[in-house]
Amino acid sequence: LQPQLREDYLSEESKTLISSLLLSQNSVGKLCNYQGCWYFYNTLQGVVNFQKNFKPQDTDIILASFPKSGTTWLKALTVALFERSKKTDRSCDHPLESDNPHGLVPFLEMDLYLQNSTPDLTNLSSSSPRVFSTHMPLHTLQVPFKDSPCKVVYICRNMKDVLVSNWHFKCTNLENTEVEGSFTLETMFDSLCSGVHFFGPFWENVLSYWRGSLEDPEHVLFMKYEDLKVEPCGQIKRLAEFLGCPFSEEEEERGDVDKILELCSLRNLSNLEINKSGKTSNKVCNSSFFRKGEVGDWKNHLTPEMENKIDNIVEEKFKGSGLKF
Ligand code: A3P
Repeated sequence: LQPQLREDYLSEESKTLISSLLLSQNSVGKLCNYQGCWYFYNTLQGVVNFQKNFKPQDTDIILASFPKSGTTWLKALTVALFERSKKTDRSCDHPLESDNPHGLVPFLEMDLYLQNSTPDLTNLSSSSPRVFSTHMPLHTLQVPFKDSPCKVVYICRNMKDVLVSNWHFKCTNLENTEVEGSFTLETMFDSLCSGVHFFGPFWENVLSYWRGSLEDPEHVLFMKYEDLKVEPCGQIKRLAEFLGCPFSEEEEERGDVDKILELCSLRNLSNLEINKSGKTSNKVCNSSFFRKGEVGDWKNHLTPEMENKIDNIVEEKFKGSGLKF
């Protein structure tokens, strides 16, 4: 969800850039197309600030996704994996108990660089590696990362569940933010299917990382929300290995894999006080990031026509890519 969609604080540079781009106004709001991806105007400013000013470190980790694909879960798991190596005072809270996963792993374009070309990243540097997140497609993310060995993890989710999750999320947060546009299931369906959707087209976003993971599996890991639900142990071990912090035999015997999965479970995270009452820096309620977390909830909301249309889009757009949903 984008805070402050008004344009009155856009920089002159962003206004000039926007005037040169392909624009679209649909029922979800005003969007512009930059490097093949659709953004709300204020997010574009964050993207450009990031591309111009971000200085990567070799150990940086980026968690990427299309909105509502399991970003919060991936952030929590990654934080918990790295927390194992820190010799912290046991009387201190686990970071996940005192902050929301989005506070611990900020978005590059929607938090850090949204209204600031030179954000202070020193707090993040105190814990190596730095972990950031993004919804930008891979080619846009990679601009400042030329020749950098940093690692990228992408989480992808079934397009129908993404739609339903996005719709619920927007409805929950509409009252709290100054958002233009109408977010009914129908308008969001049209927007997602047309491709003119924030961070869309969905298929381009997913395929950029899918292809990246095939070309450079050492640096780009492609995960699926559904796989994490079905075989969480196997998937978290895969993630840990990719991030260079595999579970030792001793940890496995101690049951540390299950402990992390339990800590990061939707049930546990959503019951923590910080997630019941807190808000993100963008004033979004932490609680709104946790809903059902089920595979196939779309069946409770979409009509057969909607289901059919999305299935056809997925078949056509992902044909020949090797990616199966
Ligand atoms: P639903 O709306 O289908 O319940 P994102 O984190 O990318 O914003 O995606 C949000 C979706 O992930 C929501 O899906 C939310 O319930 C689910 N989710 C959040 N935390 C989760 C967790 N720890 N485990 C599983 N699913 C989680």
